[in-house]
Amino acid sequence: MRHSSDSRFPATRMRRLRTHEFIRRMVRETQISVSDLICPMFILDGDNQREPIASMPGVERLSIDLAIERARRLYDLGVPAVALFPVTPDARKSADGREAYNPDAIAQRAIARMKDALPELGVITDVALDPFTTHGHDGVMNDHGEILNDASVDVLVRQALSQARAGVDIIAPSDMMDGRIGAIRTALESEGFYNVKILAYSAKYASAFYGPFRDAVGSGAKLGKGSKKTYQMDAGNSTEALHEVALDLAEGADMVMVKPGMPYLDIVQRVKAEFGRPTFVYQVSGEYAMLKAAGQAGWLDERAVALEAMQSFKRAGADGILTYFAEAVATWLAE
Ligand code: PBG
Repeated sequence: MRHSSDSRFPATRMRRLRTHEFIRRMVRETQISVSDLICPMFILDGDNQREPIASMPGVERLSIDLAIERARRLYDLGVPAVALFPVTPDARKSADGREAYNPDAIAQRAIARMKDALPELGVITDVALDPFTTHGHDGVMNDHGEILNDASVDVLVRQALSQARAGVDIIAPSDMMDGRIGAIRTALESEGFYNVKILAYSAKYASAFYGPFRDAVGSGAKLGKGSKKTYQMDAGNSTEALHEVALDLAEGADMVMVKPGMPYLDIVQRVKAEFGRPTFVYQVSGEYAMLKAAGQAGWLDERAVALEAMQSFKRAGADGILTYFAEAVATWLAE
């Protein structure tokens, strides 16, 4: 970067370019746009069902019909894509998470109906077993509680294929098993799904910020005191994230993701700088809950902090942001 260290005050007055909104807009280095937003949604079975999520005020679980209504609003606002997370009834959970690849499961039906109703809206689905397992883990485990990598990948491949058959646009593996991107890519190609995109949760940290999400999909109670630290990344690591991203790109990921968002902006910046590939960031449930709660308490200005957070993601180098504020931000940007 070139600094104008040769010119000094008063020739250089940094404040000259801050006097009015017009000039601040003219020299702003990054802009958030509605095209940057992806809206995660929690999907229930049944019709005309909506349930609040206590730890995520303002976010609801919605049955497919209501989710489509909401998706239509998002689409009309210009949001390019939604990310669907099914809320699986307990009766359909099992140790091996087989509901993940049931063609009639909630996610698969939601994909098909969403694409039918809104063919131009991008639909993203998660690949991981936690909404479907009785233990709340993203993979399958052996008798000693060890999460088995290769056996999990086999199930994840079946899950990804069933989502592709349902018509999904983008598959987003969030499970952090080794080798899953390559296995899923190979399977997709062999069934002719060469245009299905893979958005890899490449640098996904073992984070306490996922708590409200686990309430929303009901995996938290199943997980109990269990932790995902044997597969999700350690919060102390940064260079390891580049290794993860390099592997996923080599295995066939089209886009990569860093998650969570604000506590990991340094990772977003390094990933974008190192690889220059489409890089997404997930402002996760706990980040949403913090800003929302402080806003509700009157301690922070919700709109201002949400927009500032979006700006920080763009400034760090993100090409897109998964955020529970998507509809609100899109609405504010349209004003
Ligand atoms: C499932 C998954 C999680 C999130 C997205 N996909 C939770 C987890 O890994 O436990 C978290 C999203 C959020 O907190 O908003 N593998």
